[in-house]
Amino acid sequence: MEYLFKILRFDPRQDEHPYFQDYSYETEETKSVLEALMEIRNVQDCSLSFRYSCREAICGSCAMVLNGKFDLACRTELESLDSPLIVVEPLPNLEIQKDLVVDLDPFWEALVKIEPFLHSEGAIPEKGHRIEDEKIDKIFQYVNCILCGCCYSACPVVSKRENYLGPAALAKLYRFVKDPRDKRPFKNWSRVNTEGGAWGCHTIFKCNEVCPKEVRPADGIEALRRKLIVEKIKSLNPFKR
Ligand code: SF4
Ligand code: F3S
Ligand code: FES
Repeated sequence: MEYLFKILRFDPRQDEHPYFQDYSYETEETKSVLEALMEIRNVQDCSLSFRYSCREAICGSCAMVLNGKFDLACRTELESLDSPLIVVEPLPNLEIQKDLVVDLDPFWEALVKIEPFLHSEGAIPEKGHRIEDEKIDKIFQYVNCILCGCCYSACPVVSKRENYLGPAALAKLYRFVKDPRDKRPFKNWSRVNTEGGAWGCHTIFKCNEVCPKEVRPADGIEALRRKLIVEKIKSLNPFKR
């Protein structure tokens, strides 16, 4: 099968604008987009830049846009794109560092703000902090996030509002809020009770649509909002215990 790859190229050190470069690629075998990109780079053009690591849909580094669809290049087979023409673009709304490599710093900075680790109390038990199976089930959806950045890059609010934490960070926060081992006081999370936090989401659901791991981060944002409302009602109730 012969494919024509149209790959977005841009080196901010020497190019004025991004442009598409064509590469023809032929294979008789079942190959992933990542494998094809690696062969193109190794055989045709060693200046082509893209990120990857695990090659098995775990690390999230190879997220990009393939024929208009957000996905991981390593888990996307060429045949699945149903077209001999394959347009490859970097994640949008993030600064291009080179070709398909974007600057993910804003994504990581938002994540760091929600302190994405267990805030447990007391000494660590010998076998670690345990959690019952049925409680894991409630957070499993969010634990599956591989931090690929697709949802962040696709969210229209992220592209307009600089201080919006974005879907991945908010869903990750909900994962810890629902974890009975996490003892952080939720009411202290004033950052989330703002337009830059849970109230900034315009329920556009692009994040759910593009997530390659079916995390559905918008579910977590909705749940955070419900939690904020319940906490507010509790704080207004003079008879609360
Ligand atoms: Fe990627 Fe999904 Fe996690 Fe967003 S929620 S970073 S799309 S895995
Ligand atoms: Fe953005 Fe997802 Fe909300 S796309 S606006 S975070 S529902
Ligand atoms: Fe790790 Fe694709 S290389 S997710």
